[in-house]
Amino acid sequence: MDYLLDSNIEENVSVLPIVGIGGLGKTTLAQLVFNEEKMQKHFDKKLWVFVSNDFDEKIIVEKILESAKGKKPENLQMNTLINDLQKEIDGKRYLLVLDDVWSDDSQKWDSLKRLLLSGERGSKILVTTREEKVAKISKTIEPYFLRGLNEEESWSLFKQKAFEKGQEPENLRITEIGMEIVRKCKGIPPAIMTIGSLLYFKYSEQEWLSFKNKDFSNVNKKETDILPTLEL
Ligand SMILES: Nc1ncnc2c1ncn2[C@@H]1O[C@H](COP(=O)(O)OP(=O)(O)OP(=O)(O)O)[C@@H](O)[C@H]1O
Ligand SMILES: [Mg+2]
Repeated sequence: MDYLLDSNIEENVSVLPIVGIGGLGKTTLAQLVFNEEKMQKHFDKKLWVFVSNDFDEKIIVEKILESAKGKKPENLQMNTLINDLQKEIDGKRYLLVLDDVWSDDSQKWDSLKRLLLSGERGSKILVTTREEKVAKISKTIEPYFLRGLNEEESWSLFKQKAFEKGQEPENLRITEIGMEIVRKCKGIPPAIMTIGSLLYFKYSEQEWLSFKNKDFSNVNKKETDILPTLEL
């Protein structure tokens, strides 16, 4: 937020990428920041574009206009679109979120940035991406590498899902097994929430142990790979 609110920088429009693996909370963080009251006051215009696989200049310009006006643009000719875009951002300090970007095509990035240059100094583009390469190509300042939840935060989230009213059970062994499982979720919120919800319906120590040793161990062979856990 400090960075986004800082207008005392050289370039007119700067790009800050948020990087992290799938499910870590990049979009959630961007949303929180986007909706902050301070941002409302600081920026003349706030624009949110879900990019995903469509890193096509025309599609992105269309989506920016849709975000600015609240409806899809009617005239889809590129020069009209660009004109309309300039009208929206010229001389305005804007915050644009490009959510879930995959393209590391530097030419495409350059030409998109050129279209967005006419914003007032202090305009910012926040990019969320799983790929460090995308961050490297798009950034004008160092990317923010999002971390997972720490052990305490992970446990607190897990408890809310796995136990009735979020209360730890009396059987301490169940708590221990739970903590072992949570540690292997690598601080990734949806992994913790999903596993927690699965365990909500298991009551005995035996069931918890069997989940950890059978279902969970199968999906968690590779220490660094979180996808199998999410698949479960
Ligand atoms: N700090 C958090 N505490 C609790 N839940 C969280 C937290 N951060 C994210 N989540 C939840 O985790 C899920 C995934 O978050 P999000 O969609 O932001 O991930 P992402 O990093 O954008 O993933 P992707 O790379 O797939 O776009 C969402 O359901 C979100 O509500
Ligand atoms: Mg996302």
